[in-house]
Amino acid sequence: MQGSGTFSLESVVSSAIPPDGKLLVIINGAYGQRILQMARILKIDTDSLAYQEDTLPDLDQIDRTLAADPRITHVAVVHCETTTGIINPIREIGRIVRKHKRIYFVDAMSSFGAIPVSLGECEIDYLVSSANKCIEGVPGFGFILARTSVLKATEGYARSLSLDLLAQWKGLEGNGQFRFTPPTHSLIAFRQALQELEDEGGVEGRNRRYARNHQVLIEGMRSLGFSEYLPASQQGPIITSFRYPRDPKFSFEEFYRLLNDRHYVIYPGKVSHADCFRIGHIGRIFESDVRDLLAAIRDVMHEMGFKAEF
Ligand SMILES: Cc1ncc(COP(=O)(O)O)c(C=O)c1O
Repeated sequence: MQGSGTFSLESVVSSAIPPDGKLLVIINGAYGQRILQMARILKIDTDSLAYQEDTLPDLDQIDRTLAADPRITHVAVVHCETTTGIINPIREIGRIVRKHKRIYFVDAMSSFGAIPVSLGECEIDYLVSSANKCIEGVPGFGFILARTSVLKATEGYARSLSLDLLAQWKGLEGNGQFRFTPPTHSLIAFRQALQELEDEGGVEGRNRRYARNHQVLIEGMRSLGFSEYLPASQQGPIITSFRYPRDPKFSFEEFYRLLNDRHYVIYPGKVSHADCFRIGHIGRIFESDVRDLLAAIRDVMHEMGFKAEF
């Protein structure tokens, strides 16, 4: 599907759910919240189970919610909630969704290609990701891995012309063409990106490099005095949130600007109840790049004169 990852997510939300369907969204961050927002804009009946950004979804609560409300037809969850970097238990949730015979939709935007996922074992009906995250292509399109029998049963559900998932699939199957202008350059880059993924040892190989990046980062940041927002058991190898140091000499804007001047771009936090910033460690990034970043952070701390103590 042409567009950024959000377009692909919206194509599933807008064209997979019947007019009388209901979507349960499991939320522990901004991207789960965004799926709920999409469904509401589309006037789809919704329910949500929301948790704090450092909290894993409560499986019993999901089970009880599905048992209590037979009108829920679809369940959506984000695999790696990029808000914090937390990894949600998509397999365990999938088993519950399957037990209740509902349709399961996973936003694996920031995990697919670097965290092994078995669509079968996780009982996933729709998985969405995009060209430019862990596959390391360039932006321009997203993709949806769908259970064919489920997709075929969605005739007439689309609420949008351009994001009509079934029509898009039929078009591609029919003549190999996108229905509207294709993202040509991104497709060519993607072929190369897939080759590089294979050369690196596939998903396992990429996972090892990202996990190493993460490990080097947290060891280095801890030695500078920083601490992570998430407990290690919930943290994935994609992006890491760090708490703001208490020192009044720390200002995120200044920290960001001085790192940017040194050609390192970090992310502001997205956590609603704690002051954090995030460092992403996916893409064509290696251990040596992480060590260079750590040296730049040390340098910026010296220039700003703050200490990272908590
Ligand atoms: C989990 C998740 N979902 C959705 C998106 C949205 O993707 P895009 O910005 O390509 O529209 C992102 C982007 O970072 C993401 O991490």
